[in-house]
Amino acid sequence: AVHVLVPLGTIGHWKHHLTVEQDERFERIFQRKMKDFPLKLAVLQHDCSCYFQRSLLDVDLIEHLDDFEIRDDDVFIITYPKSGTIWTQQILSLIYFEGHRNRSEMVNTCDRVPFLEHSSHKVDHVNRPSPRLFTSHIPYYLAPKGLKKQKAKIIYIYRNPKDVLTSYFHFSNWLVTFEPSDNIEHFMKRFLDGKVMGSLWFDHIRGWYEHRHDFNILFMMYEEMKKDLRSSVLKISSFLEKELSEEDLDAVVNQATFQNMKLDPQANYDYILKSENWTRTNEGDFLRKGTIGDWKHHFTVEQNERFDRIFQMKMKDFPLKFIWDINEE
Ligand code: PPS
Repeated sequence: AVHVLVPLGTIGHWKHHLTVEQDERFERIFQRKMKDFPLKLAVLQHDCSCYFQRSLLDVDLIEHLDDFEIRDDDVFIITYPKSGTIWTQQILSLIYFEGHRNRSEMVNTCDRVPFLEHSSHKVDHVNRPSPRLFTSHIPYYLAPKGLKKQKAKIIYIYRNPKDVLTSYFHFSNWLVTFEPSDNIEHFMKRFLDGKVMGSLWFDHIRGWYEHRHDFNILFMMYEEMKKDLRSSVLKISSFLEKELSEEDLDAVVNQATFQNMKLDPQANYDYILKSENWTRTNEGDFLRKGTIGDWKHHFTVEQNERFDRIFQMKMKDFPLKFIWDINEE
């Protein structure tokens, strides 16, 4: 499959011109003529720099994101894909909902902390009760105006980009709506060109970090969460001003471990993705390895050196540290 890139400015404008009948006629002809055609309208391009997964995107919402109304008690998880998103969805679900902690309510984390910009599992954000918890992969410059200098909170999770790339490579090969890659080399090229959902990793993290003073934002590192989940949960709950008893803290930490999330259908997305036919095969897990340094099993020496050179160039002077190896302090 090949991606077709569509500038955002042109997306959906046909809606202002076609009648319902014309649209339906066009759709019928399109379906007939394009059945089995391998090109997919999988990604759209925003402002020449931001790529979204077309099949997941709520185009109307993204077009009006600037004015999306923000409440003081809104909380956003923002990540570049494959950096610990669903892990943090689980942590927030456990912190905010007693029924999630004691397992008396069986609600999926993707419904408790839904994606802002995705159209699948869409909820009516405007009529959601407070506090609203959101998940998003948007770059800083698409953030709704109301998030700037306001009380609403953002938790930004980042992960070393070699493991992000490795995780993303497997994920893209697993999901039908993503373009598969024959090998890591192929995917690395796309990743380093930013031609994946989330665009260029370097721009995403730099953008949010360099504009951090515009937002009420906490930066959390995946690897630190991995090394010390308890302290990480405490850091998150204190940022959210949600005090947890020792017993509640134990319950959150216990249910947010990799092993327990893997067994928990509300937290791990496997059931949803497989039952809704999002995956290419029934093998494979969303919670794949959940470790630090799996890139070492994927990168050749040459690929690693190339990645390091680009990393040094792009991240020169960037103050956040990264952990590349499980044994690193
Ligand atoms: S997505 O598609 O952007 O929402 O993916 P995302 O959730 O950001 O990232 C998926 C990776 O996070 C790992 N993960 C965890 N690691 C450690 N502990 C816990 N509890 C956990 N939950 C999810 C998941 O395994 C994916 O990483 P890889 O390296 O592929 O295993």
